[in-house]
Amino acid sequence: MKILSLKPGHDGTIVYLSEGQLMFSLEGEKNSFRRYSAVTVNLFVEAMSYLKELPEVVAVSGWYKGVGPLDNISTVSDSGYDGLDNIISENSTFLGKDIKRFSSSHERSHLMCSYGMSPFEQGRPCYALVWEGVLGNFYKIDEDVNITSLGQVIEDINCDGMFEVYDLNYDQVAKFIYEDNIIAWVQGKYEIGPRALGNRSLLASPFQEEMQARLNQIKKREGYRPIAPICLEEDVSEHFDWSDPSPYMLYFQKLKTDQLKAVTHVDNTARVQTVNSSQNPQLHELLIAFKGLSGFGVMCNTSLNFLGTGFINEMSDLVYYVQQQKLDGFVVNNKFYVAR
Ligand SMILES: [Fe+2]
Repeated sequence: MKILSLKPGHDGTIVYLSEGQLMFSLEGEKNSFRRYSAVTVNLFVEAMSYLKELPEVVAVSGWYKGVGPLDNISTVSDSGYDGLDNIISENSTFLGKDIKRFSSSHERSHLMCSYGMSPFEQGRPCYALVWEGVLGNFYKIDEDVNITSLGQVIEDINCDGMFEVYDLNYDQVAKFIYEDNIIAWVQGKYEIGPRALGNRSLLASPFQEEMQARLNQIKKREGYRPIAPICLEEDVSEHFDWSDPSPYMLYFQKLKTDQLKAVTHVDNTARVQTVNSSQNPQLHELLIAFKGLSGFGVMCNTSLNFLGTGFINEMSDLVYYVQQQKLDGFVVNNKFYVAR
């Protein structure tokens, strides 16, 4: 069988096998490229110059999007990283020839590679351990090469011990924000469009100018960029020159107070989002708890995303973001995580 095999992400490699013979193996990092380099267009073109025939199988390794497991932007490519049944095997074409397109998850590839390279005959059942940067797991491989996971050695590698975890208590979270901590706030599904309307937000206290600077630093934005307020709908006319609902943050208002410094732009305006209890009951309740402490049902609200990307939607991305940007904590649905 003639197999062209590509591992696109971390430790990117292009390999060609013909009838069990290794014809070439090119790695992205060789020639003094950075360690862990992905396959580049140049590497692919070079590999194609060595290819003397068309393959029968094109195999692409499952991986995260991105190079390293922690710089992934949530989703996976091909068969992904985790999973024992994640195989793609389908008919396709390659340079005009009918071929089989194959992909296996990274986890399964570890097991199949070690099984295939083991010294004993194929078909003998065995146990296996995968121990690498993300996976730590024991497996059983039976005589038909079915794999069963036997138990994790590494559990929840990214979260273990890094956070104190509480059931969501609005008074506790409001107090945490009132004490000038910045949290990520995740509730339910993310919003359509680019604007955080209370389901994928960074929330913070609205009173200090420094909070605006700190939020812009976290967001890697210019220091002069305004931070929008989110406000109890029933209180909007008290703090802003506005009396209607503004659930989509579409209108500018003059401020009626000089106390909301973190959300007041240089021209004394803000672009408020109002919240009522049917539109976003969780955030409405949090604003009521915050008002109980501060006298203002208003907070800073800005979108929860890496610079230049869409909203965060995976726990692994969120934990990475919280670590990278040094947030003080986060809420995901009914759990509150405080950074240790
Ligand atoms: Fe690995």
